[in-house]
Amino acid sequence: MSIRIAGTGRYIPEKVLTNADLERMVDTNDEWIRTRTGIEERHIAAENETTSDMAYQAGLQAIEAAGITGSDIDLIIVATTTPDYAFPNTATLLQNRFGAKNAFCFDIYTACTGLISSLEIAFALLESRKTYRHALVFGAEKLSCITNWTDRNTCVLFGDGASCVLLEKDDGAEESALLASALHANGQYANILKLPAGGSAMPACQKSIDENLHTIHMEGKETFKLAVGSMVSACEEVIAQAGISPDDIALVIPHQANIRIIQAVAKRLTVPNEKVYCNVAKYGNTSAASIGICFDEAVRAGQIKRGDIVLMTSFGGGLTWGAILIRY
Ligand code: COA
Repeated sequence: MSIRIAGTGRYIPEKVLTNADLERMVDTNDEWIRTRTGIEERHIAAENETTSDMAYQAGLQAIEAAGITGSDIDLIIVATTTPDYAFPNTATLLQNRFGAKNAFCFDIYTACTGLISSLEIAFALLESRKTYRHALVFGAEKLSCITNWTDRNTCVLFGDGASCVLLEKDDGAEESALLASALHANGQYANILKLPAGGSAMPACQKSIDENLHTIHMEGKETFKLAVGSMVSACEEVIAQAGISPDDIALVIPHQANIRIIQAVAKRLTVPNEKVYCNVAKYGNTSAASIGICFDEAVRAGQIKRGDIVLMTSFGGGLTWGAILIRY
């Protein structure tokens, strides 16, 4: 049995918010944002555009690339921290739009580690369930709706977007596209990156609104330090698991949070910069969507070819982090 990547897709909302725009909103400047983060602009969804709207567009591209129809889909997983609703889940909303009446649907809630977590789960379910053949895996975020636009520490970092990876099982072939994976979490650091209100700990109330508690709260420096070490160790783990050398990797796709984090990870892995995908300048941090957006861009640009080994690594709220090795 083999499970292959049969299609990919992405969606970036039209509206661009540049560093110059942010200079007019908070006490910041283009030079600070570029040198500290590498971000030049980010895209922001329209007011009435939801996470599922963006995911739908990315999904259409993946379905077209794979040459299947909605009724062929057996599983839909959406990784997001900004679902349209607490329930119904976002995947179910997409099921309806794709006409995927046979699919089981759920959302995954591991922040920026969402896409790689969902891919591992999708591979496992395709493997264990005889009747499953196709899985649609999404990373999709409308972070602009949980961003505090008066907090310069965070509002310059994030953007909106969606991505999709379509997995297909073939009983005849031998090799799985998932070569190795390592997923981890440490709840000891739950407080350094969180959305304080809107859950059962603090349902929406006047205080939660007055104090901006429905927005991202982050200890940037601490997050930065933990991000580099965790991603490097997860990458080393999957490289060892697969028994390959870093030279065998065609492309590394790190979560796009900050160019300094990306470069530090690449340096410690001794991977040359040209093998490290980076588009953080254009989109900022799109959380669960970021790795899939990079993957789709690289596939469509011919930067990843069939047979290439791709290393994906991510880090986010929870804390959660991990790495997966894929043969495209
Ligand atoms: N414009 C100008 N100044 C800003 C600013 C902005 N947008 N945001 C913060 N500052 C100021 C702070 O007020 C602080 O000033 P002070 O020293 O007078 O108090 C100073 O810049 C902060 O500097 P420093 O802490 O050295 O910044 P940094 O090099 O750690 O960069 C981040 C800050 C947030 C860019 C960086 O820590 C980071 O990327 N962290 C990880 C974030 C992340 O990846 N989160 C998501 C994980 S999925």
